[in-house]
Order: sequence, then C-alpha cells, then structure tokens
Amino acid sequence: MLASPEAAKFVLATHAHFFKPTYPKSKEKIIGPSALFFHQADYHARLRKLVQSSLSPERIKKLIPDIEAIAISALESCAVGQVINTFKEMKKFSFDVGILSIFGHLDDSYREKLKQNYLIVDKGYNSFPSNIPGTAYHKALLARKRLSQIVSEIICERKEKRLLEKDLLGCLLNSRDEKGRTLTEDQIADNIIGVLFAAQDTTASVLTWILKYLHDNPKLLEAVKAEQKVVHESNNGGQRALTWAQTKNMRCTYRFILESMRMASIISFTFREAVCDVEYKGFLIPKGWQVMPLFRNIHHNSEFFSEPQKVDPSRFEVAPRPNTFVPFGLGVHACPGNELAKLEMLILIHHLVTEFRWEVVGSQNGIQYGPFPVPEKGLPARFWKVPSNQLLYSTSHRQDHVNGCYGVRVHIASRGGQQQVVSKGPRVGRLIGLFKTTMPLVGGHWLIHEGPAASQ
Ligand code: HEM
Repeated sequence: MLASPEAAKFVLATHAHFFKPTYPKSKEKIIGPSALFFHQADYHARLRKLVQSSLSPERIKKLIPDIEAIAISALESCAVGQVINTFKEMKKFSFDVGILSIFGHLDDSYREKLKQNYLIVDKGYNSFPSNIPGTAYHKALLARKRLSQIVSEIICERKEKRLLEKDLLGCLLNSRDEKGRTLTEDQIADNIIGVLFAAQDTTASVLTWILKYLHDNPKLLEAVKAEQKVVHESNNGGQRALTWAQTKNMRCTYRFILESMRMASIISFTFREAVCDVEYKGFLIPKGWQVMPLFRNIHHNSEFFSEPQKVDPSRFEVAPRPNTFVPFGLGVHACPGNELAKLEMLILIHHLVTEFRWEVVGSQNGIQYGPFPVPEKGLPARFWKVPSNQLLYSTSHRQDHVNGCYGVRVHIASRGGQQQVVSKGPRVGRLIGLFKTTMPLVGGHWLIHEGPAASQ
C-alpha cells in the first residue's frame, strides 16, 4: 500500500509500464474484457485516444444545453414532495449524461432498454459471483449480453442511416488502426459499457456528498448560491442556456467541488499488479504483487491539507502540491471523463441552488460503501422547487443608512409579479427571509429597513 504522492506517481505515471491494472475476473466478465481500463500498451493507447477525443472540451461544450435539460428534469423528479434517496436520483442523472456523451441524442426506446438492463448489471456487479440461475450475478451476465445486442442494433441503425456522429460511439465506429482495421462490435460494446460504468456511480457519489456538504455548511452554501444567482440573473433568470465560459468562471462552486472530492475521496485507492520485479527506494516489489496507491490517505494527510477533516474550499485558492490531489487518478489511466464530470456537477449545482431547496432527513453521519462511499441510505432528503416568481436575486446585500435606519439594498429580477411594498420587520435578516418566501418579484431596487418599508 502506497500512501505517498511520490510513490503513487512512480506506480501510476513514471513507471506505469511495470504495473498493470488488475480487476477480479468476475468484474471483467460483466463489464467486458476489451474495455480500455483492463489493458495496457498499444490497445489501451488506441482506445484511450478515442475516448478522450469524444470527451474533449470542444465536444462536451456542445452538450451544455442537453446536460442542463437533464439536470432540470432530474431535480424536478426529486422535488415530488416525498423523501427521496439522493444517491439513486443522482445515479439517474449521471446515467443520462453518460448516455448523452456516448450516443448523442438517442431514441427513447433504446435509452429505456439500456436503462432497464444496465440496472440489472449494476445490481449484480458487486454480488457474489456465482453463475447459478436465479443469482444476481447470473442475471447481470444475461442483462450484459442483452446490452451488447442493444448496442449492435444502434450500430446497425447508424450504419443504415449513414450517420457520422462525433460522440463516443461515432469515434469508436470510425476508428481504423495502422492496418486499416476497424474495432469489432464486442470491442465497441465493452468500451461503451465500460465508459458508462466508469461515469455513473463515481459522479453520482460525488454529487451526493456535495449535497450533504452544502446542506451541512450553510455559509458555504450561501457563497455558492450567491455566485450562481449572479449567473442565473445574467441568463435572464435561467431563460438562456449556460455558456462554457460561465461554467469556467464559477470559481467558488468549482472550489467547493474540488473540496468535496478531496473530503469524500470516493475512489479511495486503485489496484495495480507488478509485471516484473520492481525496485522502489531500496524496496523490492516482487513480480505478481498487488500495489495499491491510497488516494484517500494522500488527500487526508495534514502535511498536504491542513485540518483535513474540515470542509474548507478556500484551501483550493492555491494549487495543491504536485500529486497530492488526485481524485481523477494519475498517469496513463487517469480519468478521461474528468472535464465532463466537473461540467455536469457545475450544471447540476447551478440549477439546484438557484431553483430548488432541499433538506436532509434524519441524522446523517454514517457512510455506506457500494463500493464507493456515500452517505448512509443514499442521503434521504426532501426537495422542493422555488416558485419562479419567488426567486430572489440579491446582488448587493450591503447595508445602507437612510433616514437613520439601517437597511439592505436588494436587487430583484422578475418574470412577472406585482410590485408591492414590503411590510416592516424587526430585523433586516428576518425581512430578507420573509422576502424570499412571500414577496412577488419586481424589477429594480428595493430598500428595506427597519421602520416603514420603502422602495427605490
Ligand atoms: C467525479 C467523477 C469521477 C471520478 C472521481 C473518476 C475517477 C477516476 C479515476 C480515479 C480513474 C483512474 C482509475 C485507475 O487509475 O485505476 C478513472 C478512470 C476512468 N474514468 Fe473516471 N471518474 C469520474 C467520472 C468519469 C466520467 C464522467 C467518465 C466518462 C464519461 C469517466 C471515464 C473513465 C474511464 C474510461 C477511465 C479509465 C481510463 C483508462 O483506463 O485509461 N470517469 N476515473
């Protein structure tokens, strides 16, 4: 087990050719043995290039409006008035974004079939691997076969319609090696299921932690909200789509995401196997031995992150020391989906904090592993949508001194609603609370202060 940044770099980056990724055979069978993360050298490099190009910033930029639509729809289905399992809902979101990045705009019937079968695969993946009819593992293997068939049907339809898409499926279909050979349908299906698998639980687990940390840290939530409200307002109350530049400029939210990934370290470690005897700093790692770089230990080492158990996004105002922050891994197998993961998290948070509210139900300090750590019971929570005529865009919460009264100047944007005089309240803080929940919105500036309300 390696808990130092230098050792992790040695195994995963500088001497990666001495260490191969190892997964239990039972898992390899479910994902598909040709998926890139089981491989090394030329085949891995070829597949990795294809996956990377389908997830490049140029490509994922174009997905923003679709990811927004998926995020809003996911949040709306959370806001049903009942307590929901946050992790499960986030899994639906990350699954749909995964499908979008792999297939582009996929026919609903295909998406449904993929979803149903993928659910069975997902259930069986971590079950005891006995191939006896009736067991979760056996059912998963059958569902996995059906997934391959569905991918074949989609490929067939694309070929018939001569569609030349630039999504992952398109990149895999168009690929030729140096001898002009294409990938087989099995290789394509294994990599598609592999990417879907790599994309779903990871992103959903991080998002579930983000929701918990935001909920548990009201001041940080307010800071994220304030940043996102400015963006929401400049997009005409969410009527215009987010732009790539806006997502790249969400600094406070971005730091919150980084800190959540450090805190939760959902990929706590990875596995490699030495392919020959390797010497590291005078120690011998014999051929065939398992080597585990421990990401969580590095992320929680007070030498690199002071008070490591504290949620403190401001620590990312300066870049961490090299190789001490590796939520997406390091070296040749580092995550090619990291830009997409960050983009979809930013988009979901944007809509969550500007249009929705949520409360966590019950005490939530336990962790469950499935295998990634997530808050116990998937973080049961209740969500609700803020009616659009009650959204408050406060651009300046600054104190003013008018006629001897202290007040607060609030800028309010509106999508309709009646102008109204705010009734007096004992405290500015309370007034803003009242404002948020009861005030129909109008454009312009209001000055609220103790004593009779006034507007400007
Ligand atoms: C917050 C979300 C995510 C986290 C924390 C994460 C983390 C990681 C890590 C640590 C690795 C390296 C594993 C190792 O070295 O053994 C990895 C690999 C990988 N990830 Fe992600 N990932 C995330 C989201 C995604 C998404 C959204 C996609 C695709 C759409 C994706 C696709 C992949 C693939 C294909 C690999 C294997 C790369 C290779 O073997 O060359 N991941 N991920």
